[in-house]
Amino acid sequence: MNREMQVIRKAVFPVAGMGSRFLPATKASPKEMMAIVDKPLIQYAVEEAVAAGITDMIFITGRNKRSIEDHFDKAYELEAELEKRGKIELLRITREVIPEGVNCIYIRQSEPLGLGHAVLCAESLIGNEPFAVLLADDFMVSEQSVTDQMVQVYNHHHSSVLAVQDVPREQTRQYGVVSSIRINAELEKVNGIVEKPDPEEAPSTLAVVGRYILTPRIFHHLRQLRPGSGGEIQLTDAIAALIEEEPVLAYRYQGIRYDCGSKLGFLKATVSLGLAHEEVRDEFAAYLQSLNTTHD
Ligand code: G1P
Repeated sequence: MNREMQVIRKAVFPVAGMGSRFLPATKASPKEMMAIVDKPLIQYAVEEAVAAGITDMIFITGRNKRSIEDHFDKAYELEAELEKRGKIELLRITREVIPEGVNCIYIRQSEPLGLGHAVLCAESLIGNEPFAVLLADDFMVSEQSVTDQMVQVYNHHHSSVLAVQDVPREQTRQYGVVSSIRINAELEKVNGIVEKPDPEEAPSTLAVVGRYILTPRIFHHLRQLRPGSGGEIQLTDAIAALIEEEPVLAYRYQGIRYDCGSKLGFLKATVSLGLAHEEVRDEFAAYLQSLNTTHD
């Protein structure tokens, strides 16, 4: 395949998870639609992909995910109403949810068989090209989009790239954890990966966060898999097989990750973005300050 054809154009967003850690909030609406200040998590993830030059957004959805499709669709009645009332700025914000030139494609994952299975559901749409995977509940705040940073690494090395960060050893059970050889301050060559190891067994404390660039060879390995950790088809297990054949890189991204799959991470992200949000930051900062003084 020539280099021209290897441009990353497609991203997969697995959004079929139950979001059980946020019940009852996620009883009837997906966790990816939970908003940090005024934008749902899934929109931040799509914007991150758009900033990386990606044009095809493939959502792997499940039950209760209709609102994601509606969010990335034209809202005729709402737009007409905003227009009638002269709310031009709100109209602009509503329309810009779907940037020009971006296609949204939805595939329904009928059974919750895990992240690996969700990615495999996109095979026929991806075909034989490298692609990105973004887990919207890993919310990234960075100057340059983390996916864009990873696309740059891919363009240079032409191999799969996993975003990683160091985590406290007692947290390895929450992540895919790699063993690797240092290339430079940002990059490691992965020589092993395990899903959610116990701290005593983890090969390192370098954990995969929810951003991946994968070569299409991953589908071959996903198809071979039997259920792994938690009875699910794990993307991590397919990556473990991939590294036997192709180089896979671990990339220490520039930016801050908020684990918005957890309540604490979600609250931290909300505070951080609240303090950066033009409309509310001053009053919000003053409010937080007042809390501090009350507790002193
Ligand atoms: C998934 C992956 C795991 C990765 C994590 C990052 O786990 O299976 O390898 O480290 O995302 O957030 P989940 O958090 O969906 O259980």
